Amino acid sequence: MNQRIGHNVHVSRHPLIQQKLTRARDRTTPRDEFRQLLAEIAALMVFELTREFETARVPVETPLEPTTGDTLAADITVVPILRAGLGMADGILHLIPQAHVGHLGIYRDEQTLQPVTYFKKLPHDIRNSSVIVVDPMLATGGSASHGLAVIKQAGARRIQFLCLVACPEGIARLAADHPDVPIYTAAIDRCLNDQGYILPGLGDAGDRLYGTGP
Ligand code: PRP
Ligand code: URA
Repeated sequence: MNQRIGHNVHVSRHPLIQQKLTRARDRTTPRDEFRQLLAEIAALMVFELTREFETARVPVETPLEPTTGDTLAADITVVPILRAGLGMADGILHLIPQAHVGHLGIYRDEQTLQPVTYFKKLPHDIRNSSVIVVDPMLATGGSASHGLAVIKQAGARRIQFLCLVACPEGIARLAADHPDVPIYTAAIDRCLNDQGYILPGLGDAGDRLYGTGP
């Protein structure tokens, strides 16, 4: 159900994810449904992404007797790139409610398409966490690449990048700047347009989530 492209790009072809992504692409899908879809797709994708996470054996007492079970060996930190990444983080926290959350506020300058950081708050202990960075759109790759550099500077060592829609330009940029970070996406679209939007894409994810579009 998952397709691996190169050594570091994983595309989720699960029918439920694809059906929800198609609804999210639809320009007539209303904001409340769009928000719900982003959260649901992120939760389904994180289920797959965490498949290989290490577990540790722990003692547990059932109502009948002591036994042992499995628990996640390392903390998980979810880092949404604001604003649109917040829509995905919500869904992931339903599945992993104990996760730490770091916030990175980054927007693309509309003229230059260069990333601008306006907020950063990461957990102190991020070094020992498995870090999942989330942003629905991987377009030029500038925001994600910049965000990953900030997170590495804070000490993070195990990082995965999760998006909904990627394109060849963004994948090439991340592969060049952060070859150690695997990319998980539900789609690799055709290309970018002149304004740096993904085609066919789903439009401006932040504006669709928060009703701030033109
Ligand atoms: C969008 C998106 C990514 C970025 C992708 O955010 O959520 O963060 O663009 O583009 P890039 O790969 O070319 O950097 P945007 O800048 O629109 O900010 P917003 O989430 O606050 O709307
Ligand atoms: N940011 C978005 O929200 N959508 C795109 O297609 C590209 C960047």
